[in-house]
Amino acid sequence: MRILITGGLGFIGSYFAEKLSNSAEQIIILDNKTGFSLSGEDILLTKPNIKIHNVDIVSSDIDEYFMNIDIVYHFAANSKISEGVNNPNIDFDITVRGTQKVLNAMKKASVNQIVFSSGSGVYGDQKETILSEDFGPLLPVSYYGASKLAAEAMISSFCGMSGFKAFIFRFANVVGMRQTHGVAYDFVNKLKIQPKTLEVLGNGMQSKSYIDVEDIFNGIELAIKKQVTNIDVYNISTQDYIDVRYIAKEVIKEMNLSDVKINYGEDSFGWVGDVPIVRFSSDKIRKMGWSNKYSSQEAIQRAIKFILSDDNS
Ligand SMILES: NC(=O)c1ccc[n+]([C@@H]2O[C@H](COP(=O)([O-])OP(=O)(O)OC[C@H]3O[C@@H](n4cnc5c(N)ncnc54)[C@H](O)[C@@H]3O)[C@@H](O)[C@H]2O)c1
Repeated sequence: MRILITGGLGFIGSYFAEKLSNSAEQIIILDNKTGFSLSGEDILLTKPNIKIHNVDIVSSDIDEYFMNIDIVYHFAANSKISEGVNNPNIDFDITVRGTQKVLNAMKKASVNQIVFSSGSGVYGDQKETILSEDFGPLLPVSYYGASKLAAEAMISSFCGMSGFKAFIFRFANVVGMRQTHGVAYDFVNKLKIQPKTLEVLGNGMQSKSYIDVEDIFNGIELAIKKQVTNIDVYNISTQDYIDVRYIAKEVIKEMNLSDVKINYGEDSFGWVGDVPIVRFSSDKIRKMGWSNKYSSQEAIQRAIKFILSDDNS
């Protein structure tokens, strides 16, 4: 099997590249190194069957890399959430234009299988509604969510018009080994600089599912083996939820800090476009035989330990 991974140096992409390199004949990574997880690169460089290309999927000619590829894992996306919040062009450029470039390159090279990393952002702000894959209408409230939804639609059109097979995954918050962003990561870094106070974005009541990257990997690989239709969409999440206040307390405990003053904001959301309550149904992929190994609590506790360990630097 010859696999191409866009964004393969990122948090999730580097995990997949390392795991898939155990069985794949060749892995090609396209990544422009704008993400933060360059720690993963050192590990990937030791694998003889992984080739890393420092390439921007939006601005470069990428066609040549898709020759003789069997399946594409398309993970490249904007890593700088705060920049994307203020500038709609960033997510649309990378996720919409980038996905179009990837799909065209696949078509030219007769590669017809794609795994796509979407997210809960496609559903918009639905409060306590339990979101299954057939929920609609899909009305995202962020540029990030809108660009993911647009990318899903473009992938679907290539399934209809060009005989592609697509596996689309809407992840909950992914955490774990070599994590380089996210709420726990931010808290650790803030507290390393200022161990006596912690500024929290929003009122800390934001409540979501946190899923370990290992569970994501197992879900995707299972769906690839079992899916019979030419396109399908899967939520991947735990069945429990934790809030930001819990995460703040766990980080402080794990860092052995005391007398930390936690300053919560007033808004229910962390930033404009953040959806404070997300409730996911993951029944569909569970019916295929998948289950999460780690609950949200366990996943975040593991993630905090990884973030604090030297391996994550
Ligand atoms: N981490 C999560 O909680 C989460 C949740 C839902 C969906 N996702 C999606 O999963 C995918 C991977 O997320 P991640 O957390 O590993 O993010 P990440 O930022 O760690 O990785 C993204 C990678 O894409 C690369 N990249 C960005 N723009 C590029 C471009 N124009 N050309 C080539 N490479 C480019 C970056 O350098 C980075 O290495 C993304 O599509 C993300 O939207 C992540």
